[in-house]
Amino acid sequence: AVLILLGPPGAGKGTQARMLQEKYGLVQLSTGDLLRAAVAAGTEAGKQAKAVMDAGGLVSDEIVIAILKDRMNDADCKNGVILDGFPRTTVQAKALDALLASTGQRINAAISLQVNDEAMVERISGRSTCAGCGEGYHDTFKPPLPGDTCAKCGSAELTRRADDRAETVASRLEAYHAQTEPLITYYGDAGVLQTVDAMEEINRVATQMSSVVETVL
Ligand code: AP5
Ligand code: ZN
Repeated sequence: AVLILLGPPGAGKGTQARMLQEKYGLVQLSTGDLLRAAVAAGTEAGKQAKAVMDAGGLVSDEIVIAILKDRMNDADCKNGVILDGFPRTTVQAKALDALLASTGQRINAAISLQVNDEAMVERISGRSTCAGCGEGYHDTFKPPLPGDTCAKCGSAELTRRADDRAETVASRLEAYHAQTEPLITYYGDAGVLQTVDAMEEINRVATQMSSVVETVL
């Protein structure tokens, strides 16, 4: 199965992808996480990606498609994936179509998480992530345990992303509207688009996600 999560920065793609991964045994594949790992590892792709990510732009299709293909080849992805943050351009969407055609897979659903721009800024500015297990938190909406401890793995090391500053968030939102939002029409035309109201609280969004997923799996 292949599920695509579409939505602006801060919509809750990562939060929902992790919940779906646990519930349905699909693998969350986040190009943002893969790129941050490449930056941390200092690979050639990571070096090129870093400046673009810090500025809130989109990394080149070439780099992102290569990283995505590489990860899709791993054995754990064969049962099904949740694409979180990919595709983000029409070029990427077409590359994904070609890749899936070659492996005999299909897109079960492209789920659009709808939020307004103000909520997005509030969500991103309160976000932190567990360095131990990758669980996501929010200062107000999903606080960690006292002492900034992860409720899942007990690690006390929560980090904030370099691109979550207010100035960068504005550029990320601009990139979303200009380059990624057209994919809503792309997947509508392909007959796989589903829409979720992502303004609701996390568990209510998760309930909507599950009802979509159960109709398409
Ligand atoms: P990426 O890592 O994909 O970031 P993003 O798309 O900007 O999305 P976020 O991770 O910021 O948000 P999210 O929707 O996952 O929200 P989350 O669940 O964390 O990309 C980063 C960069 O990498 C890009 O800018 C680009 O440079 C590059 N990149 C990545 N993929 C690329 C591609 N395909 N092509 C080119 N470049 C690429 O939630 C946010 C916060 O809100 C959390 O604190 C959470 O706890 C909270 N929250 C979640 N849901 C709710 C809710 N319903 N109510 C209240 N709070 C909530
Ligand atoms: Zn943790």
